[in-house]
Amino acid sequence: QGQPAGTGGTPANTETILLGQVGALTGGQATFGISTRNGIELALKEANAAGGVKGKKLAVKVYDNQSKPEEAAQATTRLITQDKVVLILGDVASSNSLAMAEKAQAAGVPMITPSSTNTTVTQKGDYIFRVCFIDPFQGFVMAKFARDELKLGKVAVLQDNKSAYSIDLSDVFTRKFKEMGGTVATTESYSQGDTDYRAQLTAIKKTQPDGIYVPGYYSEVGVIARQAREVGLKVPLMGGDGWDSEKLFELGGSAINGSYFSNHYSPDNPDARVQKFIADYKAAYGGVPDALAALGYDAARVAIEALQRAKDLSGPAVRDAIAQTKDFPGVAGTVTLDEKRNAVKSAVVLKVGDGKTQYVTTISP
Ligand code: PHE
Repeated sequence: QGQPAGTGGTPANTETILLGQVGALTGGQATFGISTRNGIELALKEANAAGGVKGKKLAVKVYDNQSKPEEAAQATTRLITQDKVVLILGDVASSNSLAMAEKAQAAGVPMITPSSTNTTVTQKGDYIFRVCFIDPFQGFVMAKFARDELKLGKVAVLQDNKSAYSIDLSDVFTRKFKEMGGTVATTESYSQGDTDYRAQLTAIKKTQPDGIYVPGYYSEVGVIARQAREVGLKVPLMGGDGWDSEKLFELGGSAINGSYFSNHYSPDNPDARVQKFIADYKAAYGGVPDALAALGYDAARVAIEALQRAKDLSGPAVRDAIAQTKDFPGVAGTVTLDEKRNAVKSAVVLKVGDGKTQYVTTISP
């Protein structure tokens, strides 16, 4: 309690440029923070091996937010006032990033979220950036896929009422799916951490949908998939990037097979840069990197490149350098930041089957 689970931190000194990361290393979204941390670490190792930035080595101070927004806010304040970091990376879950962005913006410390897709995160101010696409696009992607590829007519939606990410994605999907001529029969909801979804799933079953959109996190989605099959729902489930975790397969078992989700990256991408990243990551951490690891790596590399270009390491100078990021070759797509500090890039649709994902298609803005 109260003690940050700082890892890998090096005290700020003149030989080191200290970055900060706030991430969920424990709690309901633990794989999010861990994957992101690994990606960031890999990028820093490479940059340090290549000589660092402005003649200095890079280090990162990491705090666990236990998958809680209040903790995320506190950890951000600690990074700013105590550790005096030049820049903050994180978090994954939009609700946590929103809490962080408030603090970073107020202090004038640049923040890059690798993977928070909720539109309002970067609206917190001109110091807040992201290297991923936003949910209005992601919701459109799955609506389009559901209509054009799966040919679904009537769907149900099951959203997490505790997640800014889930609520917004649910709204966007619903609006787009209807615009494309589909019907949304019902929208049911749950709260992050719930374990029994049978009442909502039974209500959904009564509407006889052709598919169910579940824009939640893997921790709940896996269980939802099992219970959906239990109440007799056989239709495909669909979701967003929040599904992306090895744990999804464990929690969902065969119940999640045949489901689809939109994501930032596919490990099946034959691009040499992507395959090199996967090989390096495997060698260092022993598993196939998920999208969080890829985006953590990209965010850190975008940050490092901006630090290199920045005229000095002050908040305004670093902010201006990040804002100018253009055509940056990431492993989860090319990063060009628009005037709203969001990356404009395409999404992939992945199919879940037998403990892994399979690339299906790419959808561009
Ligand atoms: N986009 C999610 C959010 O904003 C987080 C996430 C990104 C989860 C990528 C998994 C993979 O809350």
